[in-house]
Amino acid sequence: MKVESARPEDLEPLAELFELLHPGAFDLEILRQQWALPGTSALVVWLEGRLMAGLLLRQVLDEAEVLVVGCRVSRRGYGTRLLEALRAECMAQGVARIFLEVAEDNHPAIALYSKAGFGRVGRRRGYYRSGADALLYALSLR
Ligand SMILES: CC(C)(COP(=O)(O)OP(=O)(O)OC[C@H]1O[C@@H](n2cnc3c(N)ncnc32)[C@H](O)[C@@H]1OP(=O)(O)O)[C@@H](O)C(=O)NCCC(=O)NCCS
Repeated sequence: MKVESARPEDLEPLAELFELLHPGAFDLEILRQQWALPGTSALVVWLEGRLMAGLLLRQVLDEAEVLVVGCRVSRRGYGTRLLEALRAECMAQGVARIFLEVAEDNHPAIALYSKAGFGRVGRRRGYYRSGADALLYALSLR
């Protein structure tokens, strides 16, 4: 499985994937706007001409934030490989800490992040439209 940096032509399939996973949260327009902001990049996994997984990232100085991560088929190691590639990329860029938010009831994602070494550093009450709290996770690279 090869994780690659996303190219502009990957945005459309990436938006399709994110829209499938988080309806209404990340359509192509939103993704294009995010992409245009300085420090935004994405990692993707293609398999036999199909975009299987992706991660959208924003870096500001020595901090990075994962905006969204997801895969078409779960439990095949895509999440783990994306986070490994993220870690390597961030270390190369001199990032000190990576942050992300996750809904407190998203147990697969919480398990993935914990396994990748992220630790819980906070809670944002009522953060999601559903009313669910967000848990804030961080990974220190120094
Ligand atoms: C969360 C998500 C990215 C995990 O990716 P993944 O490719 O399935 O993860 P991996 O196959 O690398 O699994 C890594 C670990 O995560 C945990 N995990 C993944 N799916 C799980 C599930 N359905 N239930 C419980 N734990 C799970 C396990 O600890 C797993 O390790 P194991 O298989 O050795 O037990 C994926 O389920 C997904 O795309 N979900 C929908 C989008 C989403 O919620 N994104 C996160 C918020 S933006």
